[in-house]
Amino acid sequence: MSRTSIVAGNWKMHGSRAENASLIEAIAAQFPSTPQAECVVCPPFVYLQEVARLVRDAEIPVALGAQDVCAEGQGAYTGEVSAAMLKDVGCGYVIVGHSERRMGYGEDDPLVARKFAAAQAKGLIPILCVGEQLSEREAGRTHEVVSRQLDAALELCGVEAFARAVVAYEPCWAIGTGHNATPEQAEEVHRFIRGRIGARNAKIAAEARILYGGSVKAGNAGELFTQPDVDGGLIGGASLKADEFLAILAAARR
Ligand code: 13P
Repeated sequence: MSRTSIVAGNWKMHGSRAENASLIEAIAAQFPSTPQAECVVCPPFVYLQEVARLVRDAEIPVALGAQDVCAEGQGAYTGEVSAAMLKDVGCGYVIVGHSERRMGYGEDDPLVARKFAAAQAKGLIPILCVGEQLSEREAGRTHEVVSRQLDAALELCGVEAFARAVVAYEPCWAIGTGHNATPEQAEEVHRFIRGRIGARNAKIAAEARILYGGSVKAGNAGELFTQPDVDGGLIGGASLKADEFLAILAAARR
């Protein structure tokens, strides 16, 4: 099964208009003429439109993603941003259920599943983040946690929805810590995720892209990406440095 890998940069709450322009300029200056993977950048909401313009002007095939979306369609939801708005400013992707939102902003599985559905309803591809905390891994509960997170979206939206979705396995203990999962640890969970989707539909599971996230750098991307069920990465800190991000993109396989 050949799946086109994805390398997505989650800028988190970093950047400024000037920094974004420098970063896109530096990425564009060395962007490969035949990239091995789809490339996505996910800036903060306020910069989406500007980054869309920067990418368009630089004429590089980089897709735009948001870091979150409101589960509701429109209305009196102060401070929220809808899927239709994200689509309107040029997003193709949106991250849902990042652990920083689950842990810091109380997002639970049902809410994340509704965000997943809201994104798809407007034609965005959700990047559904799943992953266990260190204590859960140590207690041998990784599969249980990941299943629960995955099943919420599978049950609300059906397995067919995963034909137009991406899953990102991001073990919480590996995020921003410099301690990435080993390639074997990542592969083991990715295989489990694919199996869980595959129990409902083997073809959709075989075609689903499952990204790894958590301290991916130029130095470890190659060994992570050669694992058979790792179809690219969701990159935090290293996506803010053009050289690192491009090296990670170069490490992705088709
Ligand atoms: P780091 O790459 O900084 O560990 O962050 C990973 C992440 O959370 C991507 O969404």
